[in-house]
Amino acid sequence: MAEPKENVLMEKIVSLCKRRGFVFQSSEIYGGINGFWDYGPLGAELKRNVKELWWNSMTRLRDDVVGLEATIIMAPQIWKASGHVETFADMMRECPMTRKRVRTDQVEPQSGSVVKFTGAVSNPKPEVHDDYLTTIETSASSFSNAANNREAINNCVKSVVSVKHSGASDLDERVEEETGIFWANHCTHASTEFSILLPAGKPVESAKKSAISFYQSLGVENPVLLGGVTEKVEDSTDFHPESGVKLGPSRPFNLMLQTYVGPIQSEENIAYLRPETAQAIFAQFKNVHETSRQKVPFGIAQVGKAFRNEVTPRNFTFRSREFEQMELEFFIKPDEAVEAIHGNVAVPTAPGHPGEPQPNWGWQMWHQYWVEERVRFYEGIGLSRATLGFHIQTPEELAHYARATTDILFKFPFSKVDEQGEVKGDELEGVAARSDFDLSQHERHSGKAMGVFDEDLRTAWGKLAPEKQKELRQRYYEARKKYLTKTAREGDSPEKIEKEAQEDADGLAKGQYIPHVIEPSAGVDRLILALLANAFTETTSTDEKGKSEVRTVMKFHPRVAPVKVGVFPLLKNKPELVAKAKEVFQLLRGHMLAFYDETGAIGRRYARQDEAGTPFGVTIDFDTLGEKPELLNTVTVRHRDDGAQERIPISELPGWLLARVK
Ligand code: GAP
Repeated sequence: MAEPKENVLMEKIVSLCKRRGFVFQSSEIYGGINGFWDYGPLGAELKRNVKELWWNSMTRLRDDVVGLEATIIMAPQIWKASGHVETFADMMRECPMTRKRVRTDQVEPQSGSVVKFTGAVSNPKPEVHDDYLTTIETSASSFSNAANNREAINNCVKSVVSVKHSGASDLDERVEEETGIFWANHCTHASTEFSILLPAGKPVESAKKSAISFYQSLGVENPVLLGGVTEKVEDSTDFHPESGVKLGPSRPFNLMLQTYVGPIQSEENIAYLRPETAQAIFAQFKNVHETSRQKVPFGIAQVGKAFRNEVTPRNFTFRSREFEQMELEFFIKPDEAVEAIHGNVAVPTAPGHPGEPQPNWGWQMWHQYWVEERVRFYEGIGLSRATLGFHIQTPEELAHYARATTDILFKFPFSKVDEQGEVKGDELEGVAARSDFDLSQHERHSGKAMGVFDEDLRTAWGKLAPEKQKELRQRYYEARKKYLTKTAREGDSPEKIEKEAQEDADGLAKGQYIPHVIEPSAGVDRLILALLANAFTETTSTDEKGKSEVRTVMKFHPRVAPVKVGVFPLLKNKPELVAKAKEVFQLLRGHMLAFYDETGAIGRRYARQDEAGTPFGVTIDFDTLGEKPELLNTVTVRHRDDGAQERIPISELPGWLLARVK
């Protein structure tokens, strides 16, 4: 994988975001806080538009999805049931010197010379030397060799102690005691390895300096370094990308951020900031189902904050520690129920959007449907299919709850270029088929039934041939047994599991089941970043004097653009123009976010709005006031992307604009 050249582009985007008030570093005046970002005036509008478009398309414009707004902190049992307490972890490695962590799978291969120290021993200050230490240390070579080896030290100490206490009857005990003291004081890190990759051109001395400060940080006084052999490594992922120090072992690192609820900071008061919005939907499934009069298949949508203590937040807002998600949990019947009711289960036969949902769809059809619905959403806000990509997760990549996941990718400026020169992209959204895992888990952990009763299923079941009933029962039984076995807890014997699976299969025959779920889960901040990258365009214009200037135009789709229209009087010092422009501004701001600007040359004002991504500019000129009578009460509308201009009557302006920005 090659490093993308476009990081220059990322730098430009980050700089524009700060300059124009899209995104700021959180707590910037205190030096910032890694992984946290604030949205400035333009960013806040952009974000609001995106969330509103998602909410409208996912809930208000559909009959089969309702919304939820749940708390960020929930009962900690939720995260035990969901598996997050136990398994929501990234494998990470730590630099032993700087304590900085990196995700094990994100260390780039490095090559070069490595200086390896096998350990260090403490060389005490002269004033604390006693006879035998002085003797040992006068022979530096024997000291270094010996330090690794307690036996050798023992011999060294023995020779000194035998001189010092010659003839003593307890010589052996004295030797043992002195060796222990010597070892504890000087050799505790005699076998603590430290290796460092030398950047090209750096002398071995710099490696020694790092090693000394490392051993000092462990409490080794005046370290005498052991080893120090230099060897070559090729494409090694064992070294920290910044410090060059050999990383510690790979360990799981739970990503949930913890807090305490209540005045006592004790184990039983630990609570978590939610790492995904999804679990609240599962936990409230019964309440929503009962109050919304929805029948399976139906969905529950939520937009809100999520928190993850990411090991390496990076790529601007792409991987943050606080971010927002837009998640839909779409509940469907298990395939066995669909088959019982409709006699068959429709499965995908061709790629692409499968069309309007049908009652005989199984989970695979619903999965494909939601992937394609989401792509349509992205296309509708300006991310063309060419900017997107797909990744179908392999069985090894799938989360513990998922039976299939398709990631929708966006080709970010930092996305890698593969050997074929192709950019695959990075995850914008995951569309997962989560089976009945989550509701089943909450049923088991809370003791509250999460199943639904399906009248259609009960009626259809009664009409099935006995062999069909037997076949479907068996399939459902096997599926439930598999889930129960996978999540077995202490005391769940095979007999108990079989009995429970049998009860579930009996339930199916009576019209009861735990719904399965398809989950399109998108990150708001990643989408904002994708929209910023997609919109960023530079144009070079040359004036009459031959002076060229690079200008930035943010070509947002009008639906997401923060400001929809700029309103400009041609001249600031003509009160009639200013008054008319303010009148037009007042007319428009009731319908959409408009921006009034009268300062500077008109070209400058256009340029400022181009940089903010405002798709339309309205200029009030003398013709508006009737200089050309046929143009009275008309304005010039300028299009951001090509600078084209057209004349529109003021009375038609709100409708004309709304048709393009909504
Ligand atoms: N409920 C499923 C779930 O949370 P996920 O793939 O971990 O799945 C879903 O997250 C989406 O949330 C991702 O596709 C991404 O857009 C966004 N997301 C996840 N972690 C993020 C982070 N650290 N920073 C910004 N966005 C993140």
